[in-house]
Amino acid sequence: MAPTTTASLWAFAFSLCLGVSECYFSIPLKIYTGSYNVSSELDPSQRVVLKSDVNGLSLASDPTGTVNFLDMVNNLQGDSGRGYYIEMSIGTPGQKLNILVDTGSSNFAVAAGPHPFITHYFNRALSSTYQSTGRNVAVRYTQGNWEGELGLDYASIPNGPNGTFIINIAAILSSDGFFLPGIKWQGILGLAYPMLARPDSSVEPFFNSLVQQLKIPDIFSLQMCGAGLSASDTTDPAGGSLIMGGVEPTLYRGSLWYTPIIEEWYYQVEVLKLEVGDQNLNLDCREYNMDKAIVDSGTTLLRLPVNVFNAVVEAITRSSLIQDFSSGFWDGTKLACWMKGETPWRFFPKLSIYLRATNTSQSFRITILPQLYIQPITDVDGTLDCFRFGVSSSANGLVIGATVMEGFYVVFDRAQHRVGFAVSSCAVSGGVALSEIAGPFSAADVAANCSSGSLREPLLWVISYTLMAVCALVLIILLLLLVLPCRRRNSSGEITDESSLVRHRIK
Ligand SMILES: *[C@@H]1O[C@H](CO)[C@@H](O)[C@H](O)[C@H]1NC(C)=O
Ligand SMILES: *[C@@H]1O[C@H](CO)[C@@H](O)[C@H](O)[C@H]1NC(C)=O
Ligand SMILES: *[C@@H]1O[C@H](CO)[C@@H](O)[C@H](O)[C@H]1NC(C)=O
Ligand SMILES: *[C@@H]1O[C@H](CO)[C@@H](O)[C@H](O)[C@H]1NC(C)=O
Repeated sequence: MAPTTTASLWAFAFSLCLGVSECYFSIPLKIYTGSYNVSSELDPSQRVVLKSDVNGLSLASDPTGTVNFLDMVNNLQGDSGRGYYIEMSIGTPGQKLNILVDTGSSNFAVAAGPHPFITHYFNRALSSTYQSTGRNVAVRYTQGNWEGELGLDYASIPNGPNGTFIINIAAILSSDGFFLPGIKWQGILGLAYPMLARPDSSVEPFFNSLVQQLKIPDIFSLQMCGAGLSASDTTDPAGGSLIMGGVEPTLYRGSLWYTPIIEEWYYQVEVLKLEVGDQNLNLDCREYNMDKAIVDSGTTLLRLPVNVFNAVVEAITRSSLIQDFSSGFWDGTKLACWMKGETPWRFFPKLSIYLRATNTSQSFRITILPQLYIQPITDVDGTLDCFRFGVSSSANGLVIGATVMEGFYVVFDRAQHRVGFAVSSCAVSGGVALSEIAGPFSAADVAANCSSGSLREPLLWVISYTLMAVCALVLIILLLLLVLPCRRRNSSGEITDESSLVRHRIK
């Protein structure tokens, strides 16, 4: 195979991987009522966006060089069920919009037309500074997608860095399954790297623009305060903080532990080990990073590769005192309910994830208590408290989502290519800390590189060969189309569109 062909196939395969792997933007929350013994019906009116990565922007430094982030504390609203969002002002004069914060994508996009599930949108015609670029952009997620036009305009963040800056804006003109009932935001702020930006990496992401124009340090940090609160509780939204430009000491306790960002597209990190209670799962560490491990505030749950997920469920089942748990609880289709006040958390073990430390021969571990992964959902009939399992299986990598992030103050230190974790000041319930961090541990017992491609390459080859087969098929069809349609039209006069032509030819 000629090198150029190989290269383009790999590029193709890679962009396909990107497309596939970015697919869980919004995961509908399955809300079930019912008891622990009895499964109950799904209430279709209660779909909720699960992606909840939200950051509060905060201000960086003042002219004298002193830094005060307190203005940015509590600049987020929302919860893990419907997402955490920050208020922004877009255009001239400014139009106020709520923007969902997401560390698992890289476009800044806002509704630019009415939609039944949103109250207002960015009206481009009313902004004297909006400039269209004439380019279209589309982003597709597992559960939803949008399409729109790329433009430029001014923006500012009331509880964020001081100043106005110019950003790329995707004006959403049509969407499907992206805006959902009950959301209170009208746009999305993707905080990951240019490599994930659509239509290509030349579209500078929001935070890159912010850092460059306002001269703030290239770092942001995120505290999401939904721990222990019902994902469907509307009365007391949890909120949180997105600190832009640095780290706010009042938002965490103890030390910040850092893990290297091993590739800058998503915030990809390296997981070395998992423990359920005190029990090491003992899988090959490459299983944990198959095909990647990322920190994504926009994913609601802790997502684990299938093998890892099965091992975790088995270990929890073994160590919990509960004998016959319905399998529907583990796969997310059923809730477990207990009598009110009879909190179930004492039945469940802690979960620990070991991450590579910046000294690569060491690791540290982040631990969540069951209060974070056995999540209260809704009050069914006043006598029961119901819970869902905050962990799910994944076909495209391990995702440290809101389930875990709500226990920690998470620092995205882009300048030093690392992600930091510390115990969050708001991850406390009834005086008990819901998360723990410990280290350092020796990493001598795991492979030197748990993200190495050896388990990933066969998959890419399969994709490459599949794509080659698809290309060959398309070429054959194109050749047939070149040769046959003229004759066909001449003989029958039939005018068909391309897709029906393709159907005819394949038949
Ligand atoms: C579950 O079922 C068992 C036996 O059928 C019953 O004794 C128990 O009270 C039930 N538990 C709940 C929470 O309904
Ligand atoms: C923000 O900018 C305004 C206008 O330039 C200035 O008056 C104010 O002091 C600034 N605030 C901070 C915190 O830098
Ligand atoms: C990194 O960790 C190893 C093993 O614990 C230790 O021997 C070494 O001194 C550490 N290196 C640095 C720079 O701290
Ligand atoms: C681990 O392996 C992957 C894939 O082979 C490679 O891209 C990466 O640079 C390696 N990391 C280290 C620290 O060697």
